Amino acid sequence: MQPASFHLENTWSPEGGKHGRLTLTLFNFSDAPLANFRLAYTTLTRVVDPEACDNAIFVRRNANFHEFAPPAGFSVGPGESWTFSVSALHRVARHCTDGAKSAYVTLADGSHVTVFTSDLLLEGRVSEPPPVLLPEGRLELPFAIQPWPATIDVKPGKDFPVALYPAKGTDAASVKALATAQALFRRLFPANHIPFSLIAAPQGRVLRFVDRPVLAREAYALTFSGDEVLLAYSADAGRLYGLTTLAQLLDGARREPGKFRFPISGEIADQPRYGWRGCHLDVSRQFTPKADVLRLLDILAWLKLNIFHWHLTDDEAWRLEIRAYPQLTSTGVLRGPDEPLLPQLGNAAEPVGGFYSQDDVREIVAHALALGIEVVPEVDIPGHSTATLVALPDLTDGQEAPDSYHSVQGFPNNALNPAIEPTYEFLGKVFDEMVELFPSEYIHIGGDEVANGSWLASPLARKLMEKEGISGTFALQSYFLKRIKAMLTERGRKLAGWNEVAHGGGVGAEGTLLMAWEKPEVGIELAREGYEVVMTPGQAYYLDMVQADAWQEPGASWAGTVPPAHTYAYEAEGDFPDELKHLMKGVQACIWQENFISHEYFNRLVFPRLPAVAEAAWTPKAQKDWLRFAAIVPLSPKL
Ligand code: ACM
Repeated sequence: MQPASFHLENTWSPEGGKHGRLTLTLFNFSDAPLANFRLAYTTLTRVVDPEACDNAIFVRRNANFHEFAPPAGFSVGPGESWTFSVSALHRVARHCTDGAKSAYVTLADGSHVTVFTSDLLLEGRVSEPPPVLLPEGRLELPFAIQPWPATIDVKPGKDFPVALYPAKGTDAASVKALATAQALFRRLFPANHIPFSLIAAPQGRVLRFVDRPVLAREAYALTFSGDEVLLAYSADAGRLYGLTTLAQLLDGARREPGKFRFPISGEIADQPRYGWRGCHLDVSRQFTPKADVLRLLDILAWLKLNIFHWHLTDDEAWRLEIRAYPQLTSTGVLRGPDEPLLPQLGNAAEPVGGFYSQDDVREIVAHALALGIEVVPEVDIPGHSTATLVALPDLTDGQEAPDSYHSVQGFPNNALNPAIEPTYEFLGKVFDEMVELFPSEYIHIGGDEVANGSWLASPLARKLMEKEGISGTFALQSYFLKRIKAMLTERGRKLAGWNEVAHGGGVGAEGTLLMAWEKPEVGIELAREGYEVVMTPGQAYYLDMVQADAWQEPGASWAGTVPPAHTYAYEAEGDFPDELKHLMKGVQACIWQENFISHEYFNRLVFPRLPAVAEAAWTPKAQKDWLRFAAIVPLSPKL
């Protein structure tokens, strides 16, 4: 690989302007002087006042995308550098990932060259020791089960079977379930010894399946003896969870025999604490290839999570193939210097795209289903719709002033307009294709972060508001979402959304499930209004949040610092009054990918917090134990 010709360093200082000052230095390592050029970079620490820059000329900004030129006539010779600063920022920087994530220069001939981009340094160069995020842990019982079971009363054996194999006469469905668990294990741990055999294994142990109808659908019981293991269940889900527990027990004993054992006697009787045990993945900000989605599903199954909430659209891209609107996944996904969607969040000179074809979706949904996971798809409307509106510009009110409102992420005029009737025709066709692809009970329609003031400069929206007696953005949002809910009802689906769906009058609580993300108190408020609630508060369950306060720790920080110990200990139903607890359906981890520009980054932020949410979702409060969790979690598979 050629060394990059250009490098960008950036430093943040708390002094020198609103929310401090960013100083950027571009180095020219090419053989030629750099003249008549522009520098573009992407950053979450946005510039809000174009005038507030020193030794540079502001060219343009769109959300994270920034473009500057040097002063007229300025040239950077080979080996030389150009330094400029920007001093009106929309918030302070807190961590090394708050600076430029990517950059490119546009040369005099119009070509674009990617610039190597470094970590954001804090002026004064404070260096902090790396925080201890995970202690060594402590085991009272030597068993590698995660999430920990509801009840366990077993004795460790001295050795362990080479593999478990089905008793003679085992029914075909149970043998098939064993094959599913075997294949899951092989995909997750290609180099570890397989825990199951479909044929009698020398030095193996017999596994006997028992259908026990009194057990709940996701429950199972394991009874151990020296001769055999008995697995009781009443449905596919419980049977697979029992097999997963056995695979974990055997894999742990083999990998770390000094620490973990396989049981020789006793019983595990297990079932989940919550029915909704979710993991959300935002694939709009960064595209997650199909193979990685499949692997993430495998990891969810290993952790006994049962919902995959797939955030398929946002301002930055629409990732779901819709046959009626091919432009959504052509114009609506490609981000690049010369594309209608500009580079954002780590993109540089090379245009980047990526979407899921309907065949990809069918494969992913089938893969999930076989592992007991329901895929809940999300199209995020009416806000977060820049990519949609770029792909389908006819859905805008041509008389609405540009830049009449901005989303919290800095996108101008980014919400679908409730007064434009073709908006509903468009969404009707999208929902028609979605219900064919996704068998889920719920379709998630987002509903989050519509900027206050949205649509108020749209003459069409004004007219509708007058006609309907509606005043203000959120009452208009409620009008829109009520129509969306009716469209989903017509198609036999229920509406799920983020907590702001309840704003401005909401949509009617009946059959509506909302996710409380802004803070825990919101969940209780929603339940008081009669909504079913899933708890996803950013302060505990947003896995993009930074894990320690040190500047050198990567991650977002708007919801604060979220160490794994806090994610683990957080009790989502903690302050729910008893009479509202039945409306709290469960918990969910959310993976927002603004900062997720590599696999390594994904693994560093998602683990061990995803297993922590999984254990909080499954294990009864009285059985939660952070030190035990810490001792077992290093065995967890990663992406
Ligand atoms: C969200 O984080 N905007 C749901």
